[in-house]
Amino acid sequence: MRAEEISAWVEQAQAACASAKDLDGLKVVRTAHSGDKSPIALASRALGSMSAEEKVVFGKLIGDAKASVSQFLAAALLKLEAQRDQKILLEEVVDITLPVNRAHRGGLHPITIIKNEVSDFFIEQGFSVEEGPELESGWLNFDALNIPPDHPARTMQDTFFIEPIESGMVLRTHTSPVQVRTMLTQEPPIYVVCPGRTFRADELDATHSPVFHQVEGLVVDKGITMAHLKGTLDNFARHMFGPDVTTRLRPSFFPFTEPSAEVDIYFNNRWIEWGGCGMVNPKVLATCGIDTDVYSGFAFGMGLERTLMVRHGITDMHDIVEGDIRFTRQFGVGL
Ligand code: PHE
Repeated sequence: MRAEEISAWVEQAQAACASAKDLDGLKVVRTAHSGDKSPIALASRALGSMSAEEKVVFGKLIGDAKASVSQFLAAALLKLEAQRDQKILLEEVVDITLPVNRAHRGGLHPITIIKNEVSDFFIEQGFSVEEGPELESGWLNFDALNIPPDHPARTMQDTFFIEPIESGMVLRTHTSPVQVRTMLTQEPPIYVVCPGRTFRADELDATHSPVFHQVEGLVVDKGITMAHLKGTLDNFARHMFGPDVTTRLRPSFFPFTEPSAEVDIYFNNRWIEWGGCGMVNPKVLATCGIDTDVYSGFAFGMGLERTLMVRHGITDMHDIVEGDIRFTRQFGVGL
């Protein structure tokens, strides 16, 4: 055994460590240069058969050589582990700026949006919102509103009657029965709006739908006059159609109001019929147990589909009822 041999093994081990490409490669280097069958290990074992003097000299050389080789291995291990970690970081990087295909958010139907808009407008002025059932008694839908049994609105063409006919139940043809329900259960002063779904036996066409929506307004208080009605409608119309809109009342007839009027709006350079209104017929007030010597009231009702169609220039009712999101999306999410 020669000292040069030992230093050559150390140099070979150093070179092998330097050229190991990855951790697997380093494993092979470790076995070859510091494993049981490596030249240094074999030399170490051969020490036993040496003389005492040789043992001292070669024992030291081999001990130093082992220490050097394990330092080279340790340094190479550190370097290759760092390389591996760096590679993983690069390979597994996630580009969080990539655009993703998100699912669409849900939205409100424009009728719901306009219904909320109307309710919010009246809530701001101290009104409350009342709702009633869609399946209504004929008495509340007609009789209590002074619509006698022979009134044309009660014929089969207009009303969905519910079987058995003797039940007297109908799908409400307007939101006015909610007026009656309110007056029967609340003492004046009453300031309510009643938005809701209504039903009439019409064919679905460009301007009609058998299922539609109305909003009803009712005020019962001391000293209520038609001037209050007109002022309320003016504010309401301006809120819905913009500050330049003008309203006009045109004499009309409803059994539950006296006097009665149609309310028209001047919008986009023409007069358009918007809804019905009037002073609550004292007969209706009396039916609901309200003292007509003390109280008077006004009521109005309009279609929400019609309001939406006029405001947005929608010409086909189908667009509103079909629920195609290409149509509804134009009104925004509105949440
Ligand atoms: N209920 C009436 C209709 O459906 C509208 C209306 C409401 C008229 C309140 C006057 C007062 O046609």
